[in-house]
Amino acid sequence: MAFGFPVKRVTFNGKWNRLSWRRRERSEESSLSDGAYLGREWNDATESWVDFVRSGKDYYRDGLNNPAAFEFIGDVAGLAVLDLACGEGYNARILARKSAKVTGIDLSEKMIEFAKQEEEKDKLGIRFEVMNAADMHRLSNNHFDLVTCFMSLQDVRDFEKAIAEAARVLKYGGRFVFSIPHPCTEMIRLHEPEERKIRAIEKYFRRMEYTIEWNMERLTKPFRTTSFHRTLTDYFNALHKNKLVVTRLAEPRPTLEALQRYPGLRDVLEIPQSIIIESMKPEDPQ
Ligand SMILES: C[S@@+](CC[C@H](N)C(=O)[O-])C[C@H]1O[C@@H](n2cnc3c(N)ncnc32)[C@H](O)[C@@H]1O
Repeated sequence: MAFGFPVKRVTFNGKWNRLSWRRRERSEESSLSDGAYLGREWNDATESWVDFVRSGKDYYRDGLNNPAAFEFIGDVAGLAVLDLACGEGYNARILARKSAKVTGIDLSEKMIEFAKQEEEKDKLGIRFEVMNAADMHRLSNNHFDLVTCFMSLQDVRDFEKAIAEAARVLKYGGRFVFSIPHPCTEMIRLHEPEERKIRAIEKYFRRMEYTIEWNMERLTKPFRTTSFHRTLTDYFNALHKNKLVVTRLAEPRPTLEALQRYPGLRDVLEIPQSIIIESMKPEDPQ
């Protein structure tokens, strides 16, 4: 991996600097691998997350990001689709209802348990599995027509390996479509020298691991997760290294209709909240 994410301090130009994030109590976690640690955070968040997503309170999803991402995704009828970091399966179910043959994978056992329960209740033929996006050796090469990853790659520690894996499992001519919080405008909470929230652009070139405090009133229970700030170039370099060619990019804006339905989206009328990237694995040169 090109960049390390140290646990307690960030280095910049070879010097320790004072930029920091919440120092978590890691005594227990330190015995777990990174994957298990991040998966456990999402395990702890699952119930609250499931309510948030399934009850329509996630209006950034319903009013902003999904409409734009699904416009890129287009017609998926009959396609083999892999949804990376699928969470409790909300978007995997949308893809399956559009007649795709869907596999959903996620690091969190509990997210996958909830996804499977829903599949039991309403059978859409989705195969859900606990898997690290950075190591999908159980999935064959050149198998999927489309790989999706909705607002999750920023949460995947080894995003470069995840992109390499997405490229490997895609068929030649297949597409990888992913969305991430906009790397310039995402909000990052710094804890030193004083507690303050910044827009990522203020420290854009400092790759950071940081904690997101999910504490909106819309949640049944607050929770915390870990995210990674990287630059757009980092994502583009990883695509390029794996021979994925960028074909489209969108910075979604809410429509008038969406604004009327979800007034909270006014916050992102002038400032983009997310970015959606479509890339393609070129046809086999042989
Ligand atoms: C913000 S949630 C989004 C879930 C889903 N894509 C959605 O749109 O509802 C991020 C998800 O990424 C998953 N995740 C984080 N690191 C992962 C990894 N290395 N491999 C697979 N999933 C991962 C988490 O478990 C969590 O379910």
